[in-house]
This record gives sequence, C-alpha cells and structure tokens, in this order.
Amino acid sequence: MAIEQTLSIIKPDAVAKNVIGEILTRFEKAGLRVVAAKMQRLSREKAAEFYDIHKARPFFGELVDFMSSGPVLVQVLEGDNAVSKNRELMGATFPKNAAPGTIRADFCDPNGDPGENAVHGSDSVENARNEIKLFFKTEEICARTR
Ligand code: CMP
Repeated sequence: MAIEQTLSIIKPDAVAKNVIGEILTRFEKAGLRVVAAKMQRLSREKAAEFYDIHKARPFFGELVDFMSSGPVLVQVLEGDNAVSKNRELMGATFPKNAAPGTIRADFCDPNGDPGENAVHGSDSVENARNEIKLFFKTEEICARTR
C-alpha cells in the first residue's frame, strides 16, 4: 500500500443539495483523511484552466458553466491508494452508470445532466500532484500528526 494524495472537488450540484458532510463522511469512513480544504466559487477562467485537458471536447463550455455556477469544496485527501480509493467511492463518471452505494449513484440524478456528477477525483498520482498545485500552496496542506 502506498500513501497517496488526491484532489477531490465536491461540485456545485452536490453543494446545492447540502450533502458536503455526507460525502466527506464517506471519504473518512473509507480511511481517507482530509489534509486541506477550501470552499470557493470558481471563476470561468479557473474552471477552464482546471479542465484544460477537455478543452477540445464538445461538452467543455457546458462543463465550465456548471463548475462556475456555484461554490465548490476543494480538498486534498490522503491515505493508502487514495487515488483509486477515491475513484471507487465516486463511481462511474455518468451517474446513470454508477454502481449502487457509490457517491454518484446516491447523490446525483441518473436522468439529469450527465456532467452534473457531484464529485471530481484525480485519475492518477501524477495528475493529482498537478491538480493539487492548482488549488493549494504547500503550506496549506496539513500533515495529520495526530
Ligand atoms: P470529472 O470526473 O470531473 O472529469 C471531467 C468532467 O467532465 C466529468 O467529471 C463530467 O462532469 C464532465 N463530462 C465528462 N463527459 C461529459 C459529457 N459527455 N457530457 C457532459 N459532461 C461531461
């Protein structure tokens, strides 16, 4: 087992549903620790920078609109295999495909906009490192010493 850090974003749809606590509880119950967190409303520029990898995709404009439509909670999660553990907890990208018991199955509308999927999680350790840097300075990440 490797101790990893991953970037998690609780997206505007889940913040609007007032389920921040329920989602964080899932991370904590799975053994992930929050080592940094901030609530913010992303500007369109920041959302576009974050999702730059998708800029050529047809859904990019919609994604930027959605991610800047309300506040998000951005966190760094740490723990054994944090990247893959977080992705298992989130479930498939599209809520209608997410397995029962996953965050996206439980907190999204399966018949709603497929991009409104409650959470983002980094897909590799390398991307996690880059995504974390976009939101947090080194000194904003708190070692869990107790
Ligand atoms: P996320 O895991 O944050 O990574 C990229 C995001 O783009 C994804 O979650 C969805 O919110 C969104 N997305 C991916 N594919 C589509 C699509 N076909 N239509 C709309 N949004 C999408």
